[in-house]
Amino acid sequence: MSLGERRILLVIGGGIAAYKTLDLIRRLRERGASVRAILTRAAAEFVTPLSVASLTGDKVYQDLFSLTDEAEIGHIELSRAADLLVVAPATANLMARMAAGLADDLATTALLATDKPVLIAPAMNVRMWEHRATRRNLAQLQEDGVLVVGPNEGPMACNEFGFGRMAEPLEIVAAIEKFFDRGDAPQALATPRLASPDPVSAPVTGPQPLSGKRILVTSGPTHEPIDPVRYLANRSSGKQGHAIAGALARLGAEVVLVSGPVALPDPAGVEVVHVETADQMLRACEAALPVDAAICAAAVADWRVASNADEKMKKQPGGEPPSLRLVENPDILATLSHHASARPRLVVGFAAETQNVVEFAITKRIRKGCDWIVANDVSPKTGIMGGDANTVHLITGGNIEDWPEMSKQDVAQRLASRIAGELNATTMTADDMDWDQP
Ligand code: CTP
Repeated sequence: MSLGERRILLVIGGGIAAYKTLDLIRRLRERGASVRAILTRAAAEFVTPLSVASLTGDKVYQDLFSLTDEAEIGHIELSRAADLLVVAPATANLMARMAAGLADDLATTALLATDKPVLIAPAMNVRMWEHRATRRNLAQLQEDGVLVVGPNEGPMACNEFGFGRMAEPLEIVAAIEKFFDRGDAPQALATPRLASPDPVSAPVTGPQPLSGKRILVTSGPTHEPIDPVRYLANRSSGKQGHAIAGALARLGAEVVLVSGPVALPDPAGVEVVHVETADQMLRACEAALPVDAAICAAAVADWRVASNADEKMKKQPGGEPPSLRLVENPDILATLSHHASARPRLVVGFAAETQNVVEFAITKRIRKGCDWIVANDVSPKTGIMGGDANTVHLITGGNIEDWPEMSKQDVAQRLASRIAGELNATTMTADDMDWDQP
């Protein structure tokens, strides 16, 4: 949906999540909305007024007692000349001041002086979010008709884990679109969560930026038979691929997960095709086409035994151990990337490396022809293979992003948001191109 002509007054609070608000501005503007921003004093410690002004294409409002601002546009007019006020990040302090009706700086004054709807995207430490004072303030704000998006669950800048992470920019965009779509029932947006739902089986709620998109994901190892009881395999658990499939489904995508043998439950809301070998995985992937995106997270065995035995191979007393002749398996990622008739719009590979991680991954992306590659260090010391955490680098053409260590669920969620952004992206402008430069 386009947000053309919509006027958003964005209040940026002072939290580490303010960096994500810069991306939010960009996402809103590429959908046609105009964005005017108020920066609290604390917010200016996290993002600069210059970055915000460059992205909004407007001046940034910071000071309640600015003579020039008051002469140009009074603070009352500032909030009236908007269709929606969005507070992101809404810190615990900002929420408390809003709930109390304080007007002790430009942000809270504009929020109190407005007769327009207000949407907040809370972001704070999990204990602050769960504190009874914040619960009271949230309940008060909801009673006052304030809309809420997020927060999400995940690891935090303060090294804790839980609810309190600001909703991703595209989730906030989806909440705004939903508001303008159905402005008559705004409370339906409010889904603040307290307890930690199981991320895989959690019900699908909230915004759906991937609805209408069909996405293929491969996951797990493949098993290449030697004889009816033995096989070649690797240590992949499938945790990362399965988490990605689940995260994409939670954003509304129709997901086909082609999985090698794993000890994991099928993710909720995902169509799962169970396979064993690389050949079977390739056939299942081709049968799933056409898709909008393909994410190849499987650790496909590079080789299979040239001719596997029909019967169990027996030891010969005093004889030589058998030699196995291996032949190369088809490369599923490369096949999808070079597909003549049904190449997905976005193909994402993984690069499991044990040395020169980023350099090898850059070459691998070019060699395989995929658009993005997610590189990770799978040497045993990292514990990534089979573990629950991951440290990845996202390589998108000219750009390399080093993501901090986070859970595989969180990598999945972040990657799914990025995929949603890519699949929903409209025509790039020169400003957008600059944004992506390293
Ligand atoms: N891949 C694939 N089919 C194969 C081998 C790999 O689809 N036969 C995909 C994986 O799913 C992953 C990417 O290719 O997305 C890279 O896998 P990786 O094991 O890191 O690379 P290889 O191609 O096996 O190269 P090498 O072992 O030389 O590092």
